[in-house]
Amino acid sequence: EKGGYPHYMLKEIMEQPYALAQTFSSLQTQDLSEVLKILENARRIYVVAAGTSYHASLLGAIAFRRFLGVDAEALISSEFRVVSRVVKWGDVVIGVSQSGETIDTLLALREARERGAKTVAIVNNPFSTIARESDYVVSMRAGPEIAVAATKTFTSQVLTLLYIIAKLAEKSSAINVDSKAMIHGIKMSYEIAEKALSVSQGKAMAVANKLFQKHSAYYLGRVFGVPIAMEGALKLKEIAYIHAEAYPAGESKHGPIALVDKDYPVIFIYIGFLDELIEGNIEEMKAREAWIATIAPENMVRGSIEKYSNVVIEMPRAPLETRLITYAIPLQLIAYYTATLKGLDPDKPRNLAKTVTVI
Ligand code: M6R
Repeated sequence: EKGGYPHYMLKEIMEQPYALAQTFSSLQTQDLSEVLKILENARRIYVVAAGTSYHASLLGAIAFRRFLGVDAEALISSEFRVVSRVVKWGDVVIGVSQSGETIDTLLALREARERGAKTVAIVNNPFSTIARESDYVVSMRAGPEIAVAATKTFTSQVLTLLYIIAKLAEKSSAINVDSKAMIHGIKMSYEIAEKALSVSQGKAMAVANKLFQKHSAYYLGRVFGVPIAMEGALKLKEIAYIHAEAYPAGESKHGPIALVDKDYPVIFIYIGFLDELIEGNIEEMKAREAWIATIAPENMVRGSIEKYSNVVIEMPRAPLETRLITYAIPLQLIAYYTATLKGLDPDKPRNLAKTVTVI
């Protein structure tokens, strides 16, 4: 049942090309016209989710702003009350949940609906409570995810959110986004995921070989790299029990750098879009003798990335949207290998359940 893999988590990481292709084709067959209409006319867009789904939502909110010039806000479901008083008719609240059963997300969506907002569920389980209770459902087809750590559903969620954004761009002539090219980039994510899996395995193992002896690590990125860094750090905490903190790289000198000393592991996520200043952050970390691993597009490995990184994971050349979907892959592998090097079972992390149905 694990398809020859030692763990479900590895199986699900390796299944990503297939999950992405399936999700893409299922989006193409769904009638999204109503969802697109309410989003187009939304007074304000909120995206609510928990854990990994929250990281996908954060990335989606940045994409709404960057590609559509629309202000969307990602909120942790259990914190939705912070804004629920201002949510009203005309607003759209998108709930992102793999299981469709996470109680915090369900309650946030219920509250949004009571206040007159329209709700959209992005779920991997179309028969779930969240799907049933939402006004509209966008269904992924990533396939069942058994491991507690979400992997293929994260990349599929990012794909889904970007697909919706590309479709909205297609409808609006005011927006300067080549939606055809964007859809193409989203579609090819499955091929790039396949390449990313094969090029990053050895390097991810090299990073894991460093991390498994450590108690703490930083994951740094800028703009789109921040939610991806957050996802990488969550994976490491969750299954390898190593404290990991994600930060916007530019913020690291405002405090976090104080604890960096010789051999302290810092993982940089360089997407190659609005994040060129990462080069300076790499230099700052090197000056403190940090141990540096950088994930970067193969055609952009230069300057301090090349000079100061102990390990560079070179990702295949690909359009921006493809990179946004696939850059979490090496981070998933790093966490997986680190957990196995520590002798832990990544499928059964302590204290965690796959779906959290209690408040
Ligand atoms: O089913 P959901 O997407 O609503 O689950 C949300 C979180 O509980 C989930 O992503 C959790 O953080 C995972 N264990 C992350 O790997």
